[in-house]
Amino acid sequence: MKLSVIGCGYLGAVHAAAMASIGHDVVGIDVDQRKVDALASGKAPFFEPGLEKLLEAGLAEGRLRFTTDIEQARGSAVHFIGVGTPQRRDSSAADLTFVHAAIDDLLRIVGEGEIIAGKSTVPVGTAAALAERISGSGAVLVWNPEFLREGWAVADTINPDRIVVGVPTEQGERTLEGEHAAEVLRSVYHTATAKDTPYIVTDFATAELVKVAANAFLATKISFINAMAEIAEVTGADVTTLADAIGHDDRIGRRFLGAGIGFGGGCLPKDIRAFAARAEELGKRESVAFLREIDDINLRRRDRAVHLVVEALGGSVFEKNVTVLGAAFKPHSDDIRDSPALDVATRLHGLGAHITVTDPAAIDNARRVSPQLRYVDDRDEAIRGADLVIVVTEWDEYRRQLDPEHAASLVAGKIVVDGRNCLDAQAWRAAGFAYYGMGRP
Ligand code: UGA
Repeated sequence: MKLSVIGCGYLGAVHAAAMASIGHDVVGIDVDQRKVDALASGKAPFFEPGLEKLLEAGLAEGRLRFTTDIEQARGSAVHFIGVGTPQRRDSSAADLTFVHAAIDDLLRIVGEGEIIAGKSTVPVGTAAALAERISGSGAVLVWNPEFLREGWAVADTINPDRIVVGVPTEQGERTLEGEHAAEVLRSVYHTATAKDTPYIVTDFATAELVKVAANAFLATKISFINAMAEIAEVTGADVTTLADAIGHDDRIGRRFLGAGIGFGGGCLPKDIRAFAARAEELGKRESVAFLREIDDINLRRRDRAVHLVVEALGGSVFEKNVTVLGAAFKPHSDDIRDSPALDVATRLHGLGAHITVTDPAAIDNARRVSPQLRYVDDRDEAIRGADLVIVVTEWDEYRRQLDPEHAASLVAGKIVVDGRNCLDAQAWRAAGFAYYGMGRP
């Protein structure tokens, strides 16, 4: 099928390349010429394992193109919208400017019977409003949220654990155009639907809510275990053993019970804030008031990490050499948007510490937003002479590959703060380090 993807960021670029890899003829459109040039030459403009291989294959086979020219999207059976919906500068609501701009562009070229499939994360009610906007164009709008995780985006796109499609309804019943559009989308995702991936066809509001509810649940799980870490800190309990023990109950599950410096990135923080803002607009502030608490717990963990460093260095970090291992919001990513890791580093810098940051992928991005910090590519170079080392992103380079005996031979002071509870505390203690975890004795 001929498909277009409007917006070639994390979501759109991966979606375009993945759709080409399963046999479609895809054009990716973005307003950013540099991004388009990079993608068109087979280079991923961000770190995403497996993406370049897909780009190269799609471009070589002639099934994938990138352009700034919306005219190239003309005649596509489905136009996917994958633009960003960041947090507004003046409030915690979502900024829909790019979604509206994409619709404006599409209205110039879209043809009768073509489908516009929104993938961006939007406040509930957006799809209904956009459907109004496109009425008269002959196109049909559906909402098809994305659940990909950065670092696993390619696999999550090709083998999603579910596909959700919100279609137009009238008096609670799906319209014929809606039913037809859902069938077209089913054939777009033919590789996944052939494997019996759950395929959920619903109304707009439910589809929009599935996305934000999923992220709200994940954020809640992380903040729940971080709240337990706060209690563990005053009782001497160990939150990692607690998480293991409750995680054995498969109604609870161990995943996303990793206590530490909390969640960040381009999705969970802004999505829970936008959800709370939207609920307030709907007169249902109290229904998700707990999300503000989830946000507060999350942000307190960064304070806690800073406090631990200060405490471990005897009450002041002033002119102490602190090495920060990690800048990305999570491993397998170069994304530093709302990164707890970088936040902890800049706060310690603000307290007068000499900060050295290293990260396997995110240094360039981190330097751009926090140029006041010192960045070193080589991990061992970064650690050399440190009075304290803090791990804030659980890359394998630090979690598995950094031998505590080797680290001991490089540092000036044997103090390690494990902001992600990812190190083997016993091994670090055996190498002579004072080990501080998050919610661990
Ligand atoms: C998240 C969701 O996991 C995806 O399902 C969703 O599609 C995506 O947002 C999106 O809305 O586009 P992502 O932002 O890539 O994906 O990152 P996650 O893997 O969810 O991690 C988010 C943050 O939580 C990271 O900072 C991570 O370090 C932190 N985290 C995760 C914890 O602190 N503890 C955990 O146990 C797990």
